[in-house]
Amino acid sequence: MGAEKNIRSKILITGANGQLGRSLQNVAKRYPEYDFHFKTSKELDITSKENINKLFAHEKFDYCINCAAYTAVDKAETDQENAFLVNAEAVKYLSEACKAQNAVLIHISTDFVFDGSKTTPYTEEDTPNPINVYGASKLKGEQYVQDILKNYFIIRTSWVYSEYGNNFVKTMLRLGTERDELNVVNDQIGSPTYAGDLAEAIMKIINLEATNYGIYHYSSEGAISWYDFAKEIFETKGMTIKVNPIPSEAYPTPAKRPAFSVMDLSKFNRFIVIPGWKKGLKNV
Ligand SMILES: NC(=O)c1ccc[n+]([C@@H]2O[C@H](COP(=O)([O-])OP(=O)(O)OC[C@H]3O[C@@H](n4cnc5c(N)ncnc54)[C@H](OP(=O)(O)O)[C@@H]3O)[C@@H](O)[C@H]2O)c1
Repeated sequence: MGAEKNIRSKILITGANGQLGRSLQNVAKRYPEYDFHFKTSKELDITSKENINKLFAHEKFDYCINCAAYTAVDKAETDQENAFLVNAEAVKYLSEACKAQNAVLIHISTDFVFDGSKTTPYTEEDTPNPINVYGASKLKGEQYVQDILKNYFIIRTSWVYSEYGNNFVKTMLRLGTERDELNVVNDQIGSPTYAGDLAEAIMKIINLEATNYGIYHYSSEGAISWYDFAKEIFETKGMTIKVNPIPSEAYPTPAKRPAFSVMDLSKFNRFIVIPGWKKGLKNV
């Protein structure tokens, strides 16, 4: 028998097949001192209270990173029940399970809890006012976490992209191989977030054994429009595509999007220096 590994903490990761879940699987390779338990939606459906309780009855976790979510923003408008089930009710079940074991819940939320009417970055103290079903369901999830737990980090992030799954960067690159010219909205301002950077930031919180619990905003540094982002994607890739700026009215979607969802990052910056948005893009 080999020497027993000295494990610092046991960590459950839900939604392990999503963008953030897979980015955490990558980052986890550099943290052998932790015992990671990655669970895909098939292995742990978080809407099943029974399955959550069964798992927690067998394992004692120090942390739960909830990467599972209903992220189809437009579909949520007509599928309210399922959006709230995954983004709110299931978060309640996870919070209760974490409470019973005194585990820290690191729950991921969204800039879409805000209505986008501000013109300066949203701080953690700003009052949420979601303008679509997805945002409302995520806000309800946040409220459950806060009502049930003391030991939690709610990390609101925005415009997440990565090597994995579906995201704006991958869509642009695909369209860029099919067309010479694209129209992209230029009146929604936000901050892209490279999921690999967010995964690192989450591990930093755990590694620091931080106990300054609460809500935190995390995105890459910088405020841009989708149009600016698209232009930079093609430039980084060395692709010559004509990108035309268009207003949101010219690209109607079932769910309304906040016009401005830039978040103030100064609270998170106490843990780490957050990289600029162009740096993350180069990784992908
Ligand atoms: N993507 C963005 O632009 C964005 C922006 C702001 C905030 N966020 C938040 O960031 C977090 C991570 O997002 P992401 O981009 O990594 O999302 P994602 O790629 O869509 O991944 C979400 C994962 O959740 C899983 N899931 C869905 N329902 C589940 C259930 N009932 N039980 C267990 N797992 C379930 C999905 O499983 P399947 O693989 O089976 O589908 C998927 O793997 C989420 O909380 C999201 O709300 C994302």
